[in-house]
Amino acid sequence: DQTNAAAIGVVTVSDRASRGEYEDRGGPAIEAYLNEVLRSPWKPVRRVLPDEQHRIEATLIELCTEYECSLVVTTGGTGPSIRDVTPEATEAVCDRMMPGFGELMRQVSLQKVPTAILSRQTAGLLGRSLIVNLPGKPKAIAECLDAVFPAIPYCIDLMD
Ligand code: MTE
Repeated sequence: DQTNAAAIGVVTVSDRASRGEYEDRGGPAIEAYLNEVLRSPWKPVRRVLPDEQHRIEATLIELCTEYECSLVVTTGGTGPSIRDVTPEATEAVCDRMMPGFGELMRQVSLQKVPTAILSRQTAGLLGRSLIVNLPGKPKAIAECLDAVFPAIPYCIDLMD
C-alpha cells in the first residue's frame, strides 16, 4: 500500500551525474538494496545533486522535514577531493552525530579495499531522521549497508 509506505531519501551527490555526463548508478543501487532488505512498504524520494554544500544541506532538510523520511541515504562526495563536501553538509544539518556508522563502514570496507580510509563518510540525526553517507562507488553500497543495516531499524525505533 503506497499511501502508508515509509519515505526514504536516496540522494546521489555527483557533479557529473547531476550534469547528465554519466548515469547515476549509486541511487539505483541503494534502492535495489533497500528493496531486498526492507519487509514493509517504502517509497524512495530520489535526488541527484552536484557537490555543492548548500544544495546538499537544503535537500537533506527537505527530505527530513517536508517528506518526513525516517532514513536518508546519500552516495558520493565523501572523499578527499576539494569538491567532496557531503560529510560537511551532513554535519551542518544534523542535531547529533552517530560516529559509529562511519567507523564501522570504513572498518568493513578496509577488508575489501585499502582506499576505504579515504572516505570521510559519517551519519547523524536530524529530528526523527537518520542520515547515512555512503561512498560513490556502486559496489561500496552493499558493502557498507551490510555492515550497518542491522542497527538501522532499531535506531529509527529509538528516535520515536
Ligand atoms: N568503500 C568501499 N566499500 N568500497 C570502495 O570501493 N572506495 C573508496 C572509499 N570507500 C570504496 C570505499 C574510495 S576510492 C574513495 S575516494 C572514498 O570511498 C570516497 O568516495 P566518494 O568521494 O565517491 O564518496
